[in-house]
Amino acid sequence: PSPILKDSFGRQHTYLRISLTERCNLRCQYCMPEDGVDLTKKQDLLTSDEMLKLAELFVKQGVTKIRLTGGEPTVNKDIIRIVESLKSLPGLEVVAITTNGLVLTRMLVPLQRAGLDIVNVSLDTLQPLKYQKITRRKGWNKVIAGIDLAIQLGYRPLKLNVVAMKGFNDDEILDFVEFTRDRNVDVRFIEYMPFTGNKWDTEKMISFKEMMSAIQERYPDVTPLDNHPNDTSKAFKIPGYEGQIGFITSMTQHFCGSCNRLRLMADGSLKVCLFGNSEISLRDALRNNCSEDDLLAMIGAAVFRKKKQHAGMLDLAHLPNRPMILIGG
Ligand code: GTP
Ligand code: 5AD
Ligand code: SF4
Repeated sequence: PSPILKDSFGRQHTYLRISLTERCNLRCQYCMPEDGVDLTKKQDLLTSDEMLKLAELFVKQGVTKIRLTGGEPTVNKDIIRIVESLKSLPGLEVVAITTNGLVLTRMLVPLQRAGLDIVNVSLDTLQPLKYQKITRRKGWNKVIAGIDLAIQLGYRPLKLNVVAMKGFNDDEILDFVEFTRDRNVDVRFIEYMPFTGNKWDTEKMISFKEMMSAIQERYPDVTPLDNHPNDTSKAFKIPGYEGQIGFITSMTQHFCGSCNRLRLMADGSLKVCLFGNSEISLRDALRNNCSEDDLLAMIGAAVFRKKKQHAGMLDLAHLPNRPMILIGG
């Protein structure tokens, strides 16, 4: 792997998350401010070809996994061609998406044909009415159908992302564990994280410890599983259950030490950490006809400046950043 994507703490970046659009077909409260966000003008968004050119550059520097995010990545009309083109890049091992699952019943077969390797689905509640409240849209049934289709098509274990929030789905933690009884899913509970405009506060967050003790009380035999070094989640299993559960503890036990992720935003900005606003515009560099060497030098410098870890839960809530919908997780 090239030294360009290695930071000053020795972390090699092999995983690129690309936001394909700033738009979404849901309106989740924890992800976007109530009044919505100012969308980037069309001419200031990367074109698919610019995005693919940058993706190729990163893959040549040692990126082996690309995850497509958003907004909601399936809102990008070009997603099939994008997946196909990415899959043709030598050296890229995995193309994944993180989706709200709304259109999977319509789009997963073509996406799979295009070569999509991994699907993560976001679903925060098992109750249709509650779903409508948090997302401000209907569609719970479609998401469940999408999840079942994904399992059928061989996406196993299918990762489900559940943002855990007090007063919202704290009464469903055990229901989500039960959801793994007969389904080969990996339900990952995510500690609620602060982003611009999402009204985060510690009171709304449910910590890993709290979730774990509720689960242990009901399932005393819950068992830890092995984790890969770059996993965002800590995995567990209820013996005898088909699926598994996990915890993404970004707030109470960060995993920055093994971070291997970079982010390319829909407007062409490179973000070296989910938190903080240190960004460089690769779009401007491309459009100013920067040479490949200059682009690489810019990227290398940004990666080298990456901080050792995020600023800590309480400080993050006040640091300038983007709304989550403009980052893609
Ligand atoms: P896998 O590649 O399947 O392990 O998924 P992932 O966890 O990398 O990605 P996903 O899009 O499913 O994100 C799940 C949750 O983890 C979201 O809440 C993300 O914001 C969070 N997450 C993903 N990458 C990072 C990261 O680098 N740092 C932190 N703090 N959180 C992250
Ligand atoms: N805190 C934690 N996770 C979040 N996500 C969106 N907003 C937040 C937040 N404030 C999750 C989504 C999706 C993933 C990309 O990030 O549910 O699964
Ligand atoms: Fe990596 Fe930043 Fe996430 Fe830490 S907070 S794991 S450094 S992206």
